[in-house]
Amino acid sequence: METPQGAGIVKGIVLAGGSGSRLDPITRVASKQLQPVYDKPMIYYPLATLLQAGITEVMIISTPHDLPKFRDLLGDGSQWGIGLSYAVQPEPKGIAQAFLVGEQFIGGEPVTLILGDNIFYGRIGLEDVVASFDSGAYVFGYPVRDPQRYGVVEFDRDGKVRSLEEKPTHPKSKFAVPGLYVYDGDVVNVTNSIEPSARGELEITDVNKVYLDRGQLQVQLFDRGVAWLDSGTHDSLLEAANFIATVERRQSIKIACLEEIALRQGYLSHSALAASVAQMPISGYRTYLEGVLEEG
Ligand code: G1P
Repeated sequence: METPQGAGIVKGIVLAGGSGSRLDPITRVASKQLQPVYDKPMIYYPLATLLQAGITEVMIISTPHDLPKFRDLLGDGSQWGIGLSYAVQPEPKGIAQAFLVGEQFIGGEPVTLILGDNIFYGRIGLEDVVASFDSGAYVFGYPVRDPQRYGVVEFDRDGKVRSLEEKPTHPKSKFAVPGLYVYDGDVVNVTNSIEPSARGELEITDVNKVYLDRGQLQVQLFDRGVAWLDSGTHDSLLEAANFIATVERRQSIKIACLEEIALRQGYLSHSALAASVAQMPISGYRTYLEGVLEEG
């Protein structure tokens, strides 16, 4: 069934590809997005971002080598009351290739894409975008110290987007575009219309440029309270883990606890969660969820 225009988005893609060679040797056996960020595998964090925003049909895209491991870890999603499906990206040919791999899944409907190594904390406002999305493309902006490592968005005096560039040597602004994107169903056609970049990849920034040229790109800066954490190097991975640990220990909460989110979002009933917690091995994660269940 087609989602009527303006009725929001239910579909999301988590792209968890790439060789993770910068983290060698820890990524020899399992990819970056399967590595721990403090007390959960990295992919839990982007999945949590989608679930919290109301996305309940999710496709995980990864390499032929790693996809089976994601399936082992995450299953069919029924334990969180959502639908999870899986697709292989045969070769790493760019982020936008996710839309070609996921063409059938997208089915002409709007879709959210999140990169499997992007960790967000705080009120990013995705649920509002997802609930009211109509057409075009919607991305975010976030000031960083090292914009040349990212897609960079430049604004004019009125706050209108002037340019988008992928990993520019001389960035025109300090605003990076995080790996969280929202598109209408036309994104598959748009991706088919772009050429691979000099590094042989279908660049997400080129997709965004098409929407910009059409006057259909919205860019929203995150509030200052939002943390967008990097996890691409050993140091940034450790910093991300420390950040999560600091907040979790201070508040006795868990960030990106998918079962808790599913319960609070109403994807899962209290009794269904209780049944699934009873099956879990004794661990801090289980104890935490027992506390969540006791709270109501
Ligand atoms: C990719 C995108 C870039 C974006 C970044 C966010 O970079 O190409 O535009 O800002 O993700 O994480 P890459 O993962 O290839 O370094």
